[in-house]
Amino acid sequence: MSRRILVTAALPYANGHIHIGHLVEYIQTDIWVRFQKLRGHQCIFLCADDTHGTAIMIRARQEGRGEETLIADMREAHIRDFSGFDVAFDNYGSTNSGANRALCAEIWQGLRQSGLIVEEDVSQLYDTKEGTFLADRFVKGTCPICKSPNQYGDNCDKCGSTYTPADLIDPVSALSGTKPELRTARHLFVRIEGLHDFLEQWTQSGEHLQPEVANYLKGHFLGEPLRDWDISRPAPYFGFEIPDSPGNYWYVWFDAPIGYIASTKEWCDRNGEKLENWWKTGDAEIHHFIGKDITYFHTLFWPGMLHAAGFKLPNRVHIHGFLTVGGEKMSKSKGTFVRADTYLKHLDPAFLRYYYASKLSSKLDDLDLNLDEFVTKINSDLVGKVVNLASRTARFAQPTGLSAQYPDDGGLFAAAAAEGEAIAAAYEDGDYNLAMRLIMGLADKANKFTEDAAPWNLRKDTSRAAELQNVCSISLNLFRQLAVYLAPVLPKLAQQAGTLLNAPIAHWSDAQTPLAGTAVGAFEHMLKRVEPAQVQKMIDASTEASQETAAPAATAAASFSDGPEALAAEPLAATCSFDEFAKVDLRVGRVISAQEVKDSTKLLQLTLSLGGEEKRNIFAGIKGVYEPANLVGRLVIFCANLAPRKMKFGTSEGMVLAAGPGGQDIFLLAPDSGAVPGQRVH
Ligand code: 2FM
Ligand code: ZN
Repeated sequence: MSRRILVTAALPYANGHIHIGHLVEYIQTDIWVRFQKLRGHQCIFLCADDTHGTAIMIRARQEGRGEETLIADMREAHIRDFSGFDVAFDNYGSTNSGANRALCAEIWQGLRQSGLIVEEDVSQLYDTKEGTFLADRFVKGTCPICKSPNQYGDNCDKCGSTYTPADLIDPVSALSGTKPELRTARHLFVRIEGLHDFLEQWTQSGEHLQPEVANYLKGHFLGEPLRDWDISRPAPYFGFEIPDSPGNYWYVWFDAPIGYIASTKEWCDRNGEKLENWWKTGDAEIHHFIGKDITYFHTLFWPGMLHAAGFKLPNRVHIHGFLTVGGEKMSKSKGTFVRADTYLKHLDPAFLRYYYASKLSSKLDDLDLNLDEFVTKINSDLVGKVVNLASRTARFAQPTGLSAQYPDDGGLFAAAAAEGEAIAAAYEDGDYNLAMRLIMGLADKANKFTEDAAPWNLRKDTSRAAELQNVCSISLNLFRQLAVYLAPVLPKLAQQAGTLLNAPIAHWSDAQTPLAGTAVGAFEHMLKRVEPAQVQKMIDASTEASQETAAPAATAAASFSDGPEALAAEPLAATCSFDEFAKVDLRVGRVISAQEVKDSTKLLQLTLSLGGEEKRNIFAGIKGVYEPANLVGRLVIFCANLAPRKMKFGTSEGMVLAAGPGGQDIFLLAPDSGAVPGQRVH
């Protein structure tokens, strides 16, 4: 039976670009939506930019332009990034839309009528120079508990204490660098405790949330009265003014989720459907996909708001973990904070879609992007097992087309068809990792068949042409079956398979019946192998990009908090003359090979190119800090005229420059983009 399914992914903030961390969510949601569509269900995928709040207001001021222009530019950039990754929304709106304003007013009315809105005085720090109240992260000062300087307004990253900004010692506004003053304003609150019983029942029913989320809410929030939720902000604020409370604006987290409904409304208006049919009555399912950091908003506030205002509740909130890269948080200085547009300049989006799919489960665990594994998985699974089936057989079958009857394949196609439901169940449950394993298991069997049948040998013997046609028909049908199962993850590959075999892939059931007697087109390149150097280039480019984007933040003087320890640990050396300095010949070099030195705990052996034929062999004490594979391709700065030094392992012909005291704290120097190997550093 066909289902009607409404799917949302969290609305990205308009104050930042999409990066590979965001994509964990958008790719997984897009896969789920494509899967549902392929199964023949009516499924709509909605999203929008989350545009309101202090951060946007401040940034627009700093950039000397209006908020509207800023959010329009960001929305365009987001749409470009999403489409670059084949994330296909049915509507992409903005929370700053007329539809959203009207829906906010409607839901607000519902909350008022339920008697859930109360007023309370709130004391907050106020920046008199900028004329604005300061959100917690726009205030810095000394921690009232441990006295560490330069801590944010709500918590101390040294001792972990939480407090309110007014408790900070010597608070400073991060916007203007001036001392803020405490002012009191009247705020509107949602008395969410009035919905406690309802929320207890909704969250604990076992239907809507992953069990670990339900338990977390029970253990952390539902065991005591729920705290009132501060839902308004006084002017100036970039957002919607509250109709019955002039001078006050809805807090961004009030209008953001309502953006899900507003985006649906825009889609309905374009498609002749009724919004009520999705959000008020009827059998449509509602599914939200979000990251674990915004659990509270989506599992307590949001269901509470919807319930109070007479809207339907989500059937399920699918919650996922964060992205780590190489086991660590994404880092700008390590180049692992990769923006979507930077990724797209270097790598095929299909690679990331497949890699994420192969790692995702329905649990909340963080997903680790291991760059070595990324390269291996793409090359061995996608190129080596899937595309290979077609690339090795299509050109032999092109002159004849597929056999008139599907040949005897020993039950391979039928067995893979029978596995379709297990693969579908894994997709449905968000267990993409299992789905990918099942599909690759089928790919292994198909490859074994092709290897054993060796069509490349059959074609040498013209008397075996019929056999060749049969073998290719089987391989190509097994390839197509895989392309159907992978279509939610790799839509382009499915399209290419459809073109090659003159039969577009449009439905999951296309994997149930083999093609026979049809034409085979010319094989065109599908997915190229990924080279580690491409990945390294992306990392290098991300390191540079983050240096560039760090510049505007320099205007917020109070945001620097460099301590004196590093300098104290290694005091400045005695003065040297210019001539002495000029003797040291520093050059840009490119690492063209890197390997571990056996029997040395510290050394990596690097070959540096100075351009052309000029190379240097250098032993660097960075083993265990840098992965050799990650160094290949990157630029370093090194001393090129240091007298060669004989070591146990060979002769070192220079020294690579790095900062830091040693141990794990070693940071290689790199030039800004544009520098080339061989250039002297002056
Ligand atoms: O955390 C975030 O990035 C928010 N912009 C998500 C909003 S989701 C929804 F509620 F709008
Ligand atoms: Zn502290």
